[in-house]
Amino acid sequence: ATTAIDLKEEILQLKKERNAVILAHNYQVGEIQDIADYVGDSLGLAYKAQETDCDVIAFCGVHFMAETAKILNPNKTVVLPDRDAGCSLEESCPAEDLAAFLEANKEKNYYVIAYINCSGGVKALCDVIVTSGNAIDIVNKAPADRPILFVPDANLGAWVMEQTGRKMDLWQGACYVHVEFTQNSINKIKEEYPEALVVAHPECTTAVRMLADEVCSTEKMIGFCKNAPVKDIIVVTESGMLHRLQKEAPDKNLIAGPTDKCACNDCHFMKMNTMEKLRDCLLNLTPTVEMPEEIRQRAEAPIIRMLEQSK
Ligand code: 13P
Ligand code: SF4
Repeated sequence: ATTAIDLKEEILQLKKERNAVILAHNYQVGEIQDIADYVGDSLGLAYKAQETDCDVIAFCGVHFMAETAKILNPNKTVVLPDRDAGCSLEESCPAEDLAAFLEANKEKNYYVIAYINCSGGVKALCDVIVTSGNAIDIVNKAPADRPILFVPDANLGAWVMEQTGRKMDLWQGACYVHVEFTQNSINKIKEEYPEALVVAHPECTTAVRMLADEVCSTEKMIGFCKNAPVKDIIVVTESGMLHRLQKEAPDKNLIAGPTDKCACNDCHFMKMNTMEKLRDCLLNLTPTVEMPEEIRQRAEAPIIRMLEQSK
């Protein structure tokens, strides 16, 4: 039987043979984070994908993240451990539905802003992309004379509206993981740790965000935890984040935000990736991310606009 050490060696060997870079999101299982060349949030991962000179990108995250890497690197091979690692936000906004909505509301001349958690087909219909790490800056730069349509996350959209004072029409999508945290579940854990600070992802509901001391992207959570003046920090996001945080802020007592049902919360899409599947995708160079060139080109423009506007 293959041991964990063999598997790790095999992945490192294949990475060399393929001239591959392994990029991993902060929500991946610990072993994948530990073997990756870079671990980060959606924004950091998009920059890394743009910069790489490797031939192959093995993207350990969910499909829209790997697809973003492909859009930026049409001539590279982008593989992902599990083709079915989707995202409930992506599912909430099919490109055909957005196209039909824009057609029906043509007279509004919307400036369309898409959160990066959407398909390439949706990106191709947008003016600019944002991530949780740069949404406020980018919405502040949107043309003042056009109404904004923000897709697909209504919670993140509501947070951006509060922070920028800019009104936006919101697509009614949600992350199935982050909406599980409730006012009740967070208040309960706060009672247990009365000195704790709370950091939450902007995909949480308004009621939960109101209980947080800081609302930010997964990458910004690292700086917040490192610099926090207290030891106890309640981290209200997907549980994979705790692995990264424990490494970066080892002196802190990091407490996973609970839901009403569980002590912490996993994204089952993110957790579809395993070390075995990572080995297999490097070995077989499949599954790859592919898309029609016409869509790729249209999706690339708003991503490049984002990367330029958030430098
Ligand atoms: P970040 O860009 O903050 O890492 O968020 C990605 C995501 O999928 C959150 O659920
Ligand atoms: Fe999508 Fe939510 Fe999973 Fe992030 S945590 S990938 S937003 S389903």
